[in-house]
Amino acid sequence: MPSLPCFLSFPARRRGAATAGPGASGAGSLAGETAAQRGDSQGGTQGGTQGEASAEAVRDAVVLITGAARGMGLLYARKAVAAGAAHVLLWDVDAAALEEAARELEPRGSAELHPLALDLADREALLAAAADALATFGTVNVLINNAGIVRGKRFWEHDPAADIEATLRVNTLAPMWLTRALLPAMLADRSREARILNIASAAGTLANPNMSVYASSKWAMLGWSESLRLELEKDGHRHVAVTTFCPSYVSTGMFEGARGPFLTPILTPETAASAAWDGMLRRTPVVMRPWTVKLGAALRAALPTRAWDVVGGKVFHVYSSMDKFTGRAGK
Ligand SMILES: NC(=O)c1ccc[n+]([C@@H]2O[C@H](COP(=O)([O-])OP(=O)(O)OC[C@H]3O[C@@H](n4cnc5c(N)ncnc54)[C@H](O)[C@@H]3O)[C@@H](O)[C@H]2O)c1
Repeated sequence: MPSLPCFLSFPARRRGAATAGPGASGAGSLAGETAAQRGDSQGGTQGGTQGEASAEAVRDAVVLITGAARGMGLLYARKAVAAGAAHVLLWDVDAAALEEAARELEPRGSAELHPLALDLADREALLAAAADALATFGTVNVLINNAGIVRGKRFWEHDPAADIEATLRVNTLAPMWLTRALLPAMLADRSREARILNIASAAGTLANPNMSVYASSKWAMLGWSESLRLELEKDGHRHVAVTTFCPSYVSTGMFEGARGPFLTPILTPETAASAAWDGMLRRTPVVMRPWTVKLGAALRAALPTRAWDVVGGKVFHVYSSMDKFTGRAGK
């Protein structure tokens, strides 16, 4: 995608014949047409059943990962390269970290890497990049909406633009804008399976002091993502599977200082990313990790609010988990 103004010129390796298949959008498809562009609805997989953990959906695929420069996004990128993706589009606002990530990923497989420095909060820039990706590859087969930011403070301390609007733009609106832009081509290309992995959070299932805006962004993400899944299933688009991931705290640095609630150890990025990735491959609707995330959501739904306040606050210590939050760079 060298035409993009903020494209990082990274020496990408070219794939061989494996990219030439329908919907694979390999080197051949850059000049020619993809299954989506042809409106090809013949043959191919029309949607497997939940439980299959095959990497078939990723092999020779065009994979787009947001927030791919570090943390779990970089781990999804590693998995995509290892699984034999043809093209991996790495989008992140941090140009330097992105370049480093691409350099690290390059020798791990034969995927062609496409790092793009992009602020997802900028809708026009995001839509331009999505249009460019569609023009180049015809479709995206695997979309991972992973980028996220957090502000750990009382609600009344949030700046309306830099905290509230930024959080909702990056965590909630950008995944919707991007999915809206890419989905028509995904639906049209029935020649192979497609996947959308939306990274929500345990914060999308429970209220928590010092993360009101972040929690709201993830509640919205969960409600949207699950509704999208149901719409696709209802309208027979079985080849596009949506998975929503709700992890508790993960030691990437994003939630530095936060303390895991009772029976809820802070997950390693590897454990969390593997759970999300496997769930995506298996077409699992919602993945929650660790198991106490599901327990907390069930108790919250079953108990009267004041009773849950006691259980969640004083027994599980959810409500004090952000007390010592510093975040990355103390933000
Ligand atoms: N770390 C946790 O404890 C935790 C827990 C639950 C959910 N999550 C979610 O998992 C996802 C990944 O988290 P992580 O811990 O790997 O985070 P991270 O901070 O390590 O990585 C996030 C990436 O997103 C990028 N990013 C941020 N703003 C962006 C923007 N405007 N445009 C483009 N890229 C942008 C960052 O540069 C970074 O590379 C996020 O959605 C996060 O909310 C994280």
